[in-house]
Amino acid sequence: MTGLFRRLAQRPGPAVPFTIDGVPVQAQAGDLLIGAILLHRRALRLFEFGPGERAGYCLMGACQDCWVTLADGRRVRACTTLVEPGMAVVTGAVVTGAVVTGGVGD
Ligand code: FES
Repeated sequence: MTGLFRRLAQRPGPAVPFTIDGVPVQAQAGDLLIGAILLHRRALRLFEFGPGERAGYCLMGACQDCWVTLADGRRVRACTTLVEPGMAVVTGAVVTGAVVTGGVGD
């Protein structure tokens, strides 16, 4: 997997294990979910209204482009949510209540 983002500086803090479409990955404590995902993938999710992928835009909670779905059913804005140990991100787009199979950025 090649990510869209690159970590430019390491900072102290424990690793935070989480999964993307069932694949175990790690972030660093204090990482926002958008960065944690895009270090491993090129996109956050599939676009709900057409072909394509979404990767966020504003990175500051304004554009609403970074909503992601967690396996427990929560939908969170990735640019304002800290990654938590055990989080399970599902990158398939939610269309009419059904999760479209197939992730992004593999
Ligand atoms: S990237 Fe714009 S709201 Fe999250």
